[in-house]
Amino acid sequence: MIPILTLDGPSGVGKGTVASIIAQKLDWHLLDSGAIYRAFAIVARDNDIKIDDIDDLLKLANNFDISFKLNSNHEPLNVYLNNVEVSSELRTEKTAALASQFAKIESLRKVLLVKQRQFKKLPGLVADGRDMGTVVFPDAPFKVFLTAEVEERAKRRLKQLQERGITGNISHTLAEVQKRDERDANRQHSPLRPAKDALVIDTTNLAINEVIAKVMALIKA
Ligand code: C5P
Repeated sequence: MIPILTLDGPSGVGKGTVASIIAQKLDWHLLDSGAIYRAFAIVARDNDIKIDDIDDLLKLANNFDISFKLNSNHEPLNVYLNNVEVSSELRTEKTAALASQFAKIESLRKVLLVKQRQFKKLPGLVADGRDMGTVVFPDAPFKVFLTAEVEERAKRRLKQLQERGITGNISHTLAEVQKRDERDANRQHSPLRPAKDALVIDTTNLAINEVIAKVMALIKA
């Protein structure tokens, strides 16, 4: 049996950081499923494929080549598309907003789901996203759903963007985070929600190490 930890939750909650630290601690593989949706959005845009060109979107999804490399400093990932590094463009809110529009399409999600399941390998997998515990790995033995108040998530998101040299302001970031969460939570297919058997952790007043400790305790128990 291959152990899997699913980490789901809304944007800016800190899933990416928690996932990569835990993957390193356990020496498990890491799946940043949001990076797959973001990368797909970049390639679709570069190929000028629109949201309703379903046939072309599916053709592209079946053919696009994405690979990840873990950064040494617990930053989520370096991402390569056809061997070209796209990490910084991938992390902008503009790319995220485009990704969340493509992420509504059920047939596209089905193709990307196959790619995501290929990350399941020994000795284990940490998978972060929106539907890891509900749809992609419903049988995972360890499921966590991270939440935090939206103002706190906007603050975290802005800090993260600034650390990457991307400018922004808090009210704009708050509006973007709210809009994206609303779209992800209210879509028809694979909406953002906790699995019934997930441990829900409100991280509003928790430091990253406290969140890690809670997740590690779940795995060790
Ligand atoms: O996690 P991240 O912010 O990188 O995700 C970008 C977007 O990709 C999300 O807002 C969501 O629309 C989509 N996504 C998804 N399912 C996942 C991961 C991401 O729909 N498992």
